Amino acid sequence: MGRLEGKVAIVTGAGSQNEGIGNGRAASVLFAREGARVLLVDRIGDRAEETQRQLSEEGLADSCAVFAADVTDAAQCTAMVADAVARWGRLDILQNNVGIGARAGTVLDMDDAIWDRMMRVNVTAMMLASKAAIPAMKDSGGGAIVNISSVANWRPRGLTAYATSKGAVEALTRGLAADHARDGIRVNCIEPGPVYTPMVQVAGMSDELRQARRKATALQIEGTAWDIAWASVYLASDESRYVTGVVLPVDGGLLLTSR
Ligand SMILES: NC(=O)c1ccc[n+]([C@@H]2O[C@H](COP(=O)([O-])OP(=O)(O)OC[C@H]3O[C@@H](n4cnc5c(N)ncnc54)[C@H](O)[C@@H]3O)[C@@H](O)[C@H]2O)c1
Repeated sequence: MGRLEGKVAIVTGAGSQNEGIGNGRAASVLFAREGARVLLVDRIGDRAEETQRQLSEEGLADSCAVFAADVTDAAQCTAMVADAVARWGRLDILQNNVGIGARAGTVLDMDDAIWDRMMRVNVTAMMLASKAAIPAMKDSGGGAIVNISSVANWRPRGLTAYATSKGAVEALTRGLAADHARDGIRVNCIEPGPVYTPMVQVAGMSDELRQARRKATALQIEGTAWDIAWASVYLASDESRYVTGVVLPVDGGLLLTSR
């Protein structure tokens, strides 16, 4: 028996910006391997189809389906949940993974439109996806929502807009957890540290900076999307039935050692 046997999950941002394994793709793969049926949601359908192709190669084609949607749009969030329920009859898990980065900058450099876009994609989309998912989870007898934040909440390092959006994700997590515990819905958050994923490859990270990120952690090892995904499996599964409203750093001990 898999750890998520019989459960139905939605993963937002289930593709990756580039070849390789990002946080959304890794969570989708582990959820399916652990027995869940997974709706692979991405604004760019081709990216989710690549995740589906990887699952098909493992013989898990029947455990997933692609749904192209932009989760900053309420109607598309409603349609995504309706699709999961129509296919598989219930909804147990929502992995709110979608998030975008931004160039470093103080508020003095900030363009209003960039700020608004960051809040819309990183925060509002998680609210909209949760708003759409909660009624379906209630109908299923409860559920688990996992939100992806970042250690940037504590270590902004010049990424002021991004860090602010992730702080809001953590507050949203606690609000949702308090409001929907009575519905049997648990809501938790993961704070990834400096994991090496397509998201940072695309941003053009040098080898030097990559090594500096690794050495900044207490464990001095490089994190990957799989590290985030294993924490997601725990928080999505019944193993964490007594856990709600928490923020779990998965950061190699970065917060212990870095200034
Ligand atoms: N990689 C890191 O070092 C790191 C560190 C901390 C936190 N994170 C967080 O991890 C999450 C993303 O991880 P990833 O590796 O999957 O990133 P990724 O960028 O590789 O993949 C995200 C996917 O989301 C999709 N997407 C973007 N906007 C969307 C929208 N509006 N609607 C639907 N889909 C949309 C993209 O098309 C892409 O395929 C983000 O929340 C990010 O802030 C990453």
